[in-house]
Amino acid sequence: MNLTLKIWRQKDANDKGKMVDYPITGIEPDMSFLEMLDVLNEALINKGEEPVAFDHDCREGICGMCSLYINGEAHGPDRGVTTCQLHMRMFNDGDTIYIEPFRAAAFPVIKDLVVDRSAFDRIQHAGGFISVNTSGNTIDANAIPVNKHDADTAFDAATCIGCGACVASCKNSSAMLFVGAKVSQFALLPQGKVEATDRVLNMVKQMDEEGFGNCTNTGACEVECPKGISLENIARMNREYLKAAFKG
Ligand code: SF4
Ligand code: FES
Repeated sequence: MNLTLKIWRQKDANDKGKMVDYPITGIEPDMSFLEMLDVLNEALINKGEEPVAFDHDCREGICGMCSLYINGEAHGPDRGVTTCQLHMRMFNDGDTIYIEPFRAAAFPVIKDLVVDRSAFDRIQHAGGFISVNTSGNTIDANAIPVNKHDADTAFDAATCIGCGACVASCKNSSAMLFVGAKVSQFALLPQGKVEATDRVLNMVKQMDEEGFGNCTNTGACEVECPKGISLENIARMNREYLKAAFKG
């Protein structure tokens, strides 16, 4: 396949940035999107030019690092996959492909296609955990009964990989699908109920402080989420928040 890539280039956080055209040839349909960018970078390095900076780690849909906006969609045109799982067979020979970083005020661009998503880490630190007494009196997790439906729903919420596609695809740059998933995965389990009040209040407070917007109720986040995280998690977080606010 021969393609034209239009890629966002930005030297650093202070640079204005611009789209730059790169023609690329000899791309196999079975290559992943990131392998296609590897081919481009190899050619740029061979020409003595600066390679395109992009984020990646596992390259198998687990770490949530690869965060590209491709032809106006977070993680590109396929559904239920991350950018590293996207294949070039989703495109046609001769296509022009627009590649941009995830755009949100709370995710500032570091360089080219790499954004700083440490706002998500700070939200997690505010309450995305449980406290366990490990002094020798720890109750075996398997000794605490959990009904199958709650276990399955908590597990589904826990599959969120923190990629940020929900934020990038929301016109308000809302992080509510991410935070809803993180609140839900604990709120549904007995182990998570002990700190549920503080957790939801603190995580929502941190989310607001980071500058994420409110939910638009359009559901774009659920459509673009590579892990199929359901909007039900936002509704559950809102209920948890209301309960916690009344408790004070
Ligand atoms: S909810 Fe989905 S889109 Fe948002 S961070 Fe988690 S996995 Fe990514
Ligand atoms: S590189 Fe880890 S999810 Fe894509």
